[in-house]
Amino acid sequence: MGGFVLAIDQGTTSSRAIVFDSRMKVVGSGQKEFTQIYPKSGWVEHDPEEIWETVLWAANEAIKTSGVEPEEINAIGITNQRETVVVWDRETGKPISNAIVWQDRRTAAYCGKLKKQGLEGVFTRKTGLLLDPYFSGTKLSWLLSKVKGARHRATKGELCFGTIDTFLIWRLTGGKMFATDATNASRTLMFNIATNDWDDELLEILHVPRAMLPEVKDCAADFGSTEPGLFGAPIPILGVAGDQQAATIGQACFKPGMMKSTYGTGCFALLNTGADMVRSKNRLLTTIAYRLDGKTTYALEGSIFIAGAAVQWLRDGLKVIRFASDTGDLAASADASQQVYLVPAFTGLGAPHWDPDARGAMFGMTRNTGPAEFARAALEAVCYQTRDLLDAMHKDWKSNGNETVLRVDGGMVANDWTMQRLADLLDAPVDRPIILETTALGAAWLAGSKAGVWPDLNDFALSWARDERFEPQMDEKTRASKLRGWRKAVRRTLSAS
Ligand code: G3P
Repeated sequence: MGGFVLAIDQGTTSSRAIVFDSRMKVVGSGQKEFTQIYPKSGWVEHDPEEIWETVLWAANEAIKTSGVEPEEINAIGITNQRETVVVWDRETGKPISNAIVWQDRRTAAYCGKLKKQGLEGVFTRKTGLLLDPYFSGTKLSWLLSKVKGARHRATKGELCFGTIDTFLIWRLTGGKMFATDATNASRTLMFNIATNDWDDELLEILHVPRAMLPEVKDCAADFGSTEPGLFGAPIPILGVAGDQQAATIGQACFKPGMMKSTYGTGCFALLNTGADMVRSKNRLLTTIAYRLDGKTTYALEGSIFIAGAAVQWLRDGLKVIRFASDTGDLAASADASQQVYLVPAFTGLGAPHWDPDARGAMFGMTRNTGPAEFARAALEAVCYQTRDLLDAMHKDWKSNGNETVLRVDGGMVANDWTMQRLADLLDAPVDRPIILETTALGAAWLAGSKAGVWPDLNDFALSWARDERFEPQMDEKTRASKLRGWRKAVRRTLSAS
């Protein structure tokens, strides 16, 4: 029997791996958390060696628990936290510093300076992104300036830049393949999403030499084979996509107008816009959803930095819950007469505000406010922010009258209370699929279909199945009043206010 595919999902807080069988069922898995390094306020780093070790551990564990022989695995698909920057020595493969993580805000002032020079327009026109520290370009530029001799060495071709996918491909193939895919490239602030190439004008502005950049391939392509010693047999890497794009694929959002939202550390909503590169007038991102057979499909993306991380804050920071899974029940018990709002701008605000200097705030607390109201405020904040994204998307993209249903995934969607509240505050239905491992599944599908052992795009789309649809139930008056309260809370949190 063949048709097994190994998906590697290198996320912000853990490295995971899943072995799927030919019927797309999970047969083995492994997961390991790794250290979050906070050298200064607003800075977030990862140790690339620890990422590498946890990936190897998780992949081997997934293979072991599946009981499948490595020779039976037809392909590997890689998906990853996006925008995070790694630079390593081309000769030795050693990173020259810690990875700078997507959440890191150290280049806020640099972005501000570029904006003052009137350069945001050219970046947005070419990359679909905005000048925010979230993206890789300014982080890479910062590293090249701060690590002694780095820019000079990069110009001579002695250093390699990669997002996490590129670093893993390099390591897995023993340095034989230096490549990324179009979705990861589209998050760097250096990749022109219309010409599908690195952009020399942007590289010059950021002082990044082209010599250090990887080749950009389709999402389903030949990314080389793993070194035989790593998993017991060489396995071809045939699929790569950034994690949010992989979830879009795993949710089978292949038609224009289809939309998914993933609730992990942050929340990322992507709306498929087909071959149309829709330019946002509402501070959303234009990005590559996937590139297959040389054909690019675009998406509008709304990125929220804090979703599940707000629940982690309740658990690890405030210590008002023991387990993340307690939050829904606690929120359901909150006093309905209290209007408490949490604006979780712990690392600034993402779409549609893009305010790197904003910081979190609570509003409306009374002497009666307790853990239950905090839990409800944290979960509702995720729903309100999704509403803000969807409002912006509807303004940017007309759906030709078809109702847009949101397909959701990620750890938080297992909770019914949160999903019902999401439908209530969106005033739109929310679909939860049976398979919640959509990110890994998307990466596995890219690899499995490329290997010819999994269904093609149309059959894969037909296999998507719903677990439950949540229909809005809240009355209009309550919803309108809650949304007014939220908008007021956000206005008071913005750094310029
Ligand atoms: O853009 C950042 C995103 O890719 C991170 O996703 O799931 O690792 O929080 P996640």
